[in-house]
Amino acid sequence: MEAIILAGGFGTRLRPFTFTRAKSLLPILNEPMISHLIRTLPKKVDTVILAVNYRREQIEEYFNKHDFGKTIIVNEEPEPLGTGGAVKYADQYITGPFFTLNADIICSLNLAEMLRFHEKKKATATISLWPIENVSEFGVVDIKKDGNITKFVEKPKAEDAPSDLINAGAYLLEPQVLNYIEPGKLVSMEKQIFPQIINNTGRFFGYKFQGHWIDVGRISSYISVHALLLEKQKKTFATGEQCTIQGTLKSSCAGNMVRIGKNTTVESSILFDQVTVGDNVSLDHCVIGEHCEIGDGSVLRNVAIGDNEIIEKHTKLDNAVVWNQPIPQGYPNKQIGNVIGE
Ligand code: GTP
Repeated sequence: MEAIILAGGFGTRLRPFTFTRAKSLLPILNEPMISHLIRTLPKKVDTVILAVNYRREQIEEYFNKHDFGKTIIVNEEPEPLGTGGAVKYADQYITGPFFTLNADIICSLNLAEMLRFHEKKKATATISLWPIENVSEFGVVDIKKDGNITKFVEKPKAEDAPSDLINAGAYLLEPQVLNYIEPGKLVSMEKQIFPQIINNTGRFFGYKFQGHWIDVGRISSYISVHALLLEKQKKTFATGEQCTIQGTLKSSCAGNMVRIGKNTTVESSILFDQVTVGDNVSLDHCVIGEHCEIGDGSVLRNVAIGDNEIIEKHTKLDNAVVWNQPIPQGYPNKQIGNVIGE
C-alpha cells in the first residue's frame, strides 16, 4: 500500500527557517518533522511517495540515509502543483487505496484504524477530522451520524455551524479519485476535488479521532508542538549531543553543539544546531537558526532568527524576525499553499 506525503510547499509562514531548508525537515525535538509522521504509518504501507518540489535535494539526502524500512520514492513536480496536482503527479505509483498526508501535521491519529473505518464504509474518500472551538475561523464539515460528509461550510457563524470538525490533513483515497484531477495543473485537493467527490459519489466520509493535533504551519505552532511533545515525554527540556548548558532551559529544545552561558534563561524556545547564547540572556518564545550567536545580556521575546545571524550584546527585541541575507531566488513573497481550515 502507498502513502503520498505532501512535502513540496515553500512553508512561507515559517520563514526565515524555510529560506534555507524544506519545511518538512525542520527539527521537532531534534528530528525532522517528517520523520515523526512516517513513524505513524501502518505496517501495511510499504511504499512512501514523497511529493516534493522546493528543496528536493535536502529531502532526498535525508531519505538516502533513513528509509524507515520502506520503499521511498522521491517524486519531484516540475513546479508546485498544489495538494491535488501533486497527488495526480504520483498516479503511476498507485496500486490501490492510498493515504495522502500533509507533512506538517503532528497528531495522534491512528492510520490503521482510519483504514479499517474506510474499508467498513466502502468510502471513495475518507478524511481525518479534528474538533476546534473557534468554528468561525475555519471550514467545517456537515456530517451525518454515520460519518458521511455532505458538504464543507467555510467560516460559519458559531450558531450556524453544522459541526465543530475540520479537515485534519490526512486522507485515504480510492484510486478513482485520481480521475477527478486534471494532470499538470495547479489543483487544490481540498477546494476543487473534495467537493466533486462529495457530489458525484456520495461516499465521502469523515474519521474523527482524539488526543492531539497540531498543524505546524506557523512559528507559534512550531513552538507549541515542542511544548506538547515535551510534556508527553514528561521532560522540561531536550538537548542534542555535545551541548554545554550553564543556564536554564524550560519547555525548550536545543540541537547539537549548542552552548548556553551563565545566568541565561531559555523558555519556550527552540535552538537549532550550533547556536551559541551568551551570559545573562533571556529568550522567551524564540526560534534561533543554525550557527547563530546571541550576545551577552540580550533580551529576546517572540523572535525568529534565521540561520547564521549574529545578535550583538545587550540587544532587546520583541516580536521580530531577523534575516539579513538575500532571500533565495524563486521563493514566493506570499503564501501560495492552501492552509488547512482557512
Ligand atoms: P505556507 O506557505 O506557509 O502556507 O506553507 P505550505 O507551502 O507548506 O502550504 P500548506 O501548509 O498549505 O501545505 C500543506 C502541506 O501540503 C504541506 O505539507 C506542504 O508541503 C504541502 N504542499 C503544499 N503545496 C504543495 C505543492 O504544490 N506540492 C506539493 N508536493 N506539496 C505541497
